[in-house]
Amino acid sequence: MKLASGYEAFLEAAHKNYPDQTKPGGNLDWAIALSSVVNAECSDRFAKPSARGWKSSLHAKLFPSYSTKVGALAMTYKGLMNVKTPFDLALYTRLIWELQPRTILELGSLQGGSGLWFADQMSLLCENPGEVHSFDLHTKCIHVNAKHPRLTFHQVDLSDVAAFDRNLLMRLPHPWLVVDDAHVQIFSIFTYLSRFLVSGDYYVIEDDPMRADKEIIDGLQLVEQSGFLIDTYYTDAFGSNFTSAPNAWLRKS
Ligand SMILES: C[S@@+](CC[C@H](N)C(=O)[O-])C[C@H]1O[C@@H](n2cnc3c(N)ncnc32)[C@H](O)[C@@H]1O
Repeated sequence: MKLASGYEAFLEAAHKNYPDQTKPGGNLDWAIALSSVVNAECSDRFAKPSARGWKSSLHAKLFPSYSTKVGALAMTYKGLMNVKTPFDLALYTRLIWELQPRTILELGSLQGGSGLWFADQMSLLCENPGEVHSFDLHTKCIHVNAKHPRLTFHQVDLSDVAAFDRNLLMRLPHPWLVVDDAHVQIFSIFTYLSRFLVSGDYYVIEDDPMRADKEIIDGLQLVEQSGFLIDTYYTDAFGSNFTSAPNAWLRKS
């Protein structure tokens, strides 16, 4: 079913067939057509970084509204800071359900609110939930309430990749979801950690890609050479690159 041409007629049919959603042109077809618009099942879903542009990022459109009360509320979880936009939270929920990660590695713990949110999401959405490991230099900022049986915090200076516990990385089961939200040596860390990733694992780089400067463009070339593709379902689900990780929802091929 095509959404673009004959859209009015399509909507008319959808309304006419309401409330029988299963009729041709009913609401069920409408929802299926909408999901194809956001590229969930398309053959061009995975794209090379070099083939992507940078038009329309979340940064320009959303950041001016961050001072509002609504924005502040969206950035907490169970009373702890969780510095993620509502859009990205929805994308992670979908990815955790789709990927069924056995390991989530978070770089940058802050108060521990995001680690707690990842651990809860994993427990809710994964049939065989594993572990969340969150890394930060300033672990004294982690709140006592950021506790979960699947969540472990590690004190690590991410400016030195040798600080990672190699034995831990070797033993953690796949699939992995790595979320880099520490903004330290992002491509050195990517190069180091990507060797531990296997086909199908995901690596999300938050915030820094919004700069889209030379470091980012060059870094994404490295990402491409390392065999990663951009999952455009996640980058473009709410509009082209309307995420805190533009061109940086990466899947190892
Ligand atoms: C943007 S915050 C993380 C936000 C958190 N993931 C969330 O969504 O609520 C970035 C974190 O990176 C940590 N950080 C900064 N420099 C670091 C370093 N050299 N090594 C490890 N962590 C570092 C900071 O302490 C801070 O907690």
